[in-house]
Amino acid sequence: MEKTPVLVLAPLPDFLMEPLRAAHVCHDYFHASDKDALLAEVGTQIRGIVMAGGSVSPVALLEKLPKLEIISMFGVGYDNVPVDWCRAHNVRVTNTPDVLTEDVADTASALVLMTSRRLIAANRYLHAGSWTQGPFPLAHALRGKLAGIVGLGRIGKAIAQRLEAHGMKIAYHGRTRQEVSWEFLDSLIELARVADFLIVACPGGAKTKHLINAQVLEALGAKGTLINIARGSVVDEAALIVALQRGTIRGAGLDVFEHEPQVPSALMQCENAVLLPHLGSGTHETRRQMARLVVENLAAHVSGKALLTPVC
Ligand code: 8YV
Repeated sequence: MEKTPVLVLAPLPDFLMEPLRAAHVCHDYFHASDKDALLAEVGTQIRGIVMAGGSVSPVALLEKLPKLEIISMFGVGYDNVPVDWCRAHNVRVTNTPDVLTEDVADTASALVLMTSRRLIAANRYLHAGSWTQGPFPLAHALRGKLAGIVGLGRIGKAIAQRLEAHGMKIAYHGRTRQEVSWEFLDSLIELARVADFLIVACPGGAKTKHLINAQVLEALGAKGTLINIARGSVVDEAALIVALQRGTIRGAGLDVFEHEPQVPSALMQCENAVLLPHLGSGTHETRRQMARLVVENLAAHVSGKALLTPVC
């Protein structure tokens, strides 16, 4: 069968690129030094796009690909894909849900532990040889504390289950009340007010941009810690930095940032923040399963079969 021309918009691991190259003619837009020249040369042939969280697919680019049929996303979040445009232009979109839920929830739960028990600071303390001068200061227990989940989707639920195992109480805010035993609060401000940990697990995109703003952080207050494993865009990073600097919230545990991989130096200097380089789904096991879904969705599309994990 003739290989499908595919445009690759992100740096992808070898275990994904190898099967992609075997089945398709891959054009590396991400690494191309002259992107316009690449598009001028192959744009009219491209039938598929492979991209990841972080790589952008603006409409202006998609409009240069008249034969585009499918975008296969290496990730669950598709906030950077213009889905309405794709629907209107009959372009299918797929993502990689479920396979990464447990790893991302593990990361959120680790951030809760790292911030409450100050484990990163404690590790630095020992490495610096400070233990011989005295014990590390006491930290805060999790049991009995309230975790407020913003966005109770698959990942939000997996986080709630983990935190319950730590003895925490759970409440959540989202678009709708769900058939779960956890308390639903239809006001985000109210959730922030009662939460010891406010945990962002909702999708990114225009609808949730800066949902966590100065007012929400003020409601979270000095007893509260913000955790974000979702998208940097959901949090007003400038307001968060001010809250961390002034100590108007206790701390933050972040795996995602507004302009990653750029992280403001003011945020990096905040001792009360634990910062991770967007590694929520970053395990060998999960990334291989995500890669398999990317490859199998493309293969299903090319052979006219039902997509495994369609967005649209
Ligand atoms: C990945 C993610 O970092 O699934 C997502 O939405 O943000 C992450 O799993 C990314 O898409 C892979 O590069």
